[in-house]
Order: sequence, then C-alpha cells, then structure tokens
Amino acid sequence: MGIRFFTPPTVERNVPGMMNKFGYGADARICDRIAGVAVDDLVRAHGSPLFVFDESVLREKYRAAHRAFSTRYPAVQFAWSYKTNYLRAVCQVFHQEGAIAEVVSDFEYAKARALGMPGASIIVNGPYHPVEFLRLAAAEGAKIHVDNLDMLLALESIAAELGRTLDVAIRVNMDTGLQPAWTKFGFNLENLEALRAIRRIGNGGRLRLTGLHAHIGTFVLEPGAYRVAVTKLLALADAARTENSTAIEYLDLGGGFASNNTLHYQYLPGEQMTPSIDEYAEVICDTLRSELPAGMPAPKLFLETGRALVDEAGYLITTIRGQKRTAEGRRAFIADAGVNLLYTSNWYKLRVMTARDARGPLSDAILYGPLCMNIDVIREHVQLPPVSVDDHLVLHPVGAYNVTQSMQFITYRPRVVLIDEAGGVEVIRERETLADVEGPERLPSRLKRV
Ligand SMILES: Cc1ncc(COP(=O)(O)O)c(C=O)c1O
Repeated sequence: MGIRFFTPPTVERNVPGMMNKFGYGADARICDRIAGVAVDDLVRAHGSPLFVFDESVLREKYRAAHRAFSTRYPAVQFAWSYKTNYLRAVCQVFHQEGAIAEVVSDFEYAKARALGMPGASIIVNGPYHPVEFLRLAAAEGAKIHVDNLDMLLALESIAAELGRTLDVAIRVNMDTGLQPAWTKFGFNLENLEALRAIRRIGNGGRLRLTGLHAHIGTFVLEPGAYRVAVTKLLALADAARTENSTAIEYLDLGGGFASNNTLHYQYLPGEQMTPSIDEYAEVICDTLRSELPAGMPAPKLFLETGRALVDEAGYLITTIRGQKRTAEGRRAFIADAGVNLLYTSNWYKLRVMTARDARGPLSDAILYGPLCMNIDVIREHVQLPPVSVDDHLVLHPVGAYNVTQSMQFITYRPRVVLIDEAGGVEVIRERETLADVEGPERLPSRLKRV
C-alpha cells in the first residue's frame, strides 16, 4: 500500500464558476459513457490515458456532409485529408463511406496505396515532394496539385520521361477576406502568378490542366469566404479555358470547415459559434451555380474536409494523478495526458468532462499535463466540480490532428481504441513501448560500454 501523506484541512472561500445566461457553458458536464461503453470499463481494459474514437460519429458526420453537398450539387467528391488523422481504421471508415484520399507526402501516399486506394483516387497536395515520389505518383495517375513553378518544371520533365501528357491541377491562393490570408500554398491569384502558371502549362505542351485547387484556411467560421473563393476560381477557370482551350474539369476547395470545438478567444461554446455543414454547402453550391461563366461546363467539386468530419468522433480519457494549490490559491490538477498528446489545446478550450457525477459547486481550476515542462497546461481555466486523484476526465473533441501531431516527448503515446456501431471496442493502435521509440536509433559500438 502506498504512503498517504496527511494534508491539513484548510478553510477557504468558495469561488464558484460564474454562470452566464447559457448556464455553465461547455464544461461541467458528465461523460460516464462513450458510445455506450462505460469510461471506467475502458480505462480498466485499456489504461489511461486513452484515445477513444466513436465509429458511428465518423460515419454520421461523413454522411451528413455528403448529403449537404450532394443534394445541392450532385457532382461532389470528398477526399479524406490524411494528415487530419491517418490511423488506418479511421481512413478506412471514410474510404468505405466513399471518400478518396488527399495526401501531402510520400509517406501518406504509401499509406493510402496500402489501404487499397488506386493512384487515380489519390489527390497529392503539398509545397515540396522529392522527384522520385512525383515520378511514382505521376506514373500511377494520381491527381497532382502543382504548388510552384519548380514543381511544375519537374512534372514537365517527368511527363517527357514517361512519354505522355500528364493531367495536373494547380493550387491557388487568394484574398478571400479572411485575416490573415493564407498565402503559403500555390500560385497567387491577384499578382497573376496563377495565370502565368496556367499559360506555362498551355505553352509547355507536356501537362494538361484539369483542375484548380484552393485551401483558403482552416477553422473558417465565415462561410462567405468560400463564396469569394468559388467566384474567383470560376473566373480563373474561364480564363484558363481562353488561354489553353482546355476545360477545367474540377474545382477543389480544400478543407477548412470548423468543428464544434471552442477557440480560446470565444466566449460562447463552439456548438453555438460553428456554422453548420449546410451553411457551408449552401454558400459553395449556390455560388458554383450562380457564378458559372456562360458556356462553361459545370466543374466537379472536390472537398478535402478534415477536422469537421473527425474532431467530434475523438475523445481522450485522462486520470487525475495529483493535485495542488497555485500561489493564488486556485485548485490545480495534474492529469496523465499532456500537451504532447493534445496539440490542439494550443487553439482550443477543449471541453473537460467528469466521468462521474462529482456533486458539489463548480470552481475554477487549472489542468496540467504530466510533462516536466512549464507549458504543459491543457486548460488554464476550467470549471470543475469537486474532483480528486484517481478521477477520470474526458476531453472532447480531440479527433482531429491530435493523434497525427502527438509525439513521444517524455511519455509514450497511449493506446487508441475504436468503438464500433454495435458497442464493440477494438484496439486500433497499441500503446507505444521503448522498442517503438528506440527502434530506429543506432548506438555506435564505441558508446556501448558504460
Ligand atoms: C490541402 C489541405 N486540404 C485539406 C486540409 C484539411 O483541413 P481542415 O481540417 O481544416 O478541414 C488541409 C489541412 O490543413 C490541407 O492543408
């Protein structure tokens, strides 16, 4: 039995969380079950911390998004954005639902191919790729989106090597009114770089321009920005038709739809701030119809929606392992999951729910992770009831970007489970071991002696 130190009792002023007119906000909820499975049982069987994905939410989100667009604009195709979450089980759920793949590296491409996606069902984005990878993707008929002139010239050489014309799309960045404007990716529209790239493709004689792509930002809370993007892309497609006498077959609007997470600066919970998928669909599809230049065949619409499809399907269960008081007297808890697993805690006030009904007044607390780093703070301020060591907390939504951007900094990465539609729990990634972390390391023999 471990030693329990005596903590002298103190009398302190109760500082309950301020209720606003919406109640206590996003926190202060109980989550004792995920997809019908008791949190306590999940921890008993799989340990803590634990990432949990709910398959029915993945499928519902995909179906709702597909329905929102296809009922308004039937020629739509979703491509699953691998970087958002490339656990094979997650990708495969979306592929089963009908999504093709959107990848940004040779590594992601290999994952998509291994899952059975043919090259032609893979969109390749990204500012740089080694020429060997471009050659492979081109040979396998992938949809390559050209980011810059150097990539364009490399693809012309590859087309010459292969002895055939390659179909490509170009990536375009533009002013959509969003601040700050995303200018890193693709050719700029306003300074005419995009038009020059189109001309080069026409004059080069090796490539055929089939698509235009714009990923205008992420967590875009203003659907009107997509109206600007679609209007500008359609005008550019019309210019391409005149310049190169080839029809643009598709417009790809990238990702960017917000999930129900809450940004740090937002007062209201994300559920009340995030536009619905129908609002995005209405703006995009309406603009595609109303701004289509005369005589231009309607292009196919590609979407690379990431976080809006996966974020809410993901939970992280963590356990309180220690508690203390800060210098100002605030309650502070040390959880066994830190910011190395929760990259998105940088941007979001991740909702913190208790796994049991910890009756009592809510009060302000700080939630630390277990890392020996001052920045390891999951929530600087969170309203929590009287919880204590060994209590489980459930953080949500964490399905987007955390699994792919988590790292073994100081701790191993935890197990990930998927709860299927019948309530069955399957491990989709094991907890890491020392062998996983040290596997690629090599210790020179002269350093083997102690
Ligand atoms: C090219 C591209 N497409 C799609 C996405 C997915 O974006 P989101 O998760 O905002 O939907 C990203 C993410 O950054 C991206 O870079």
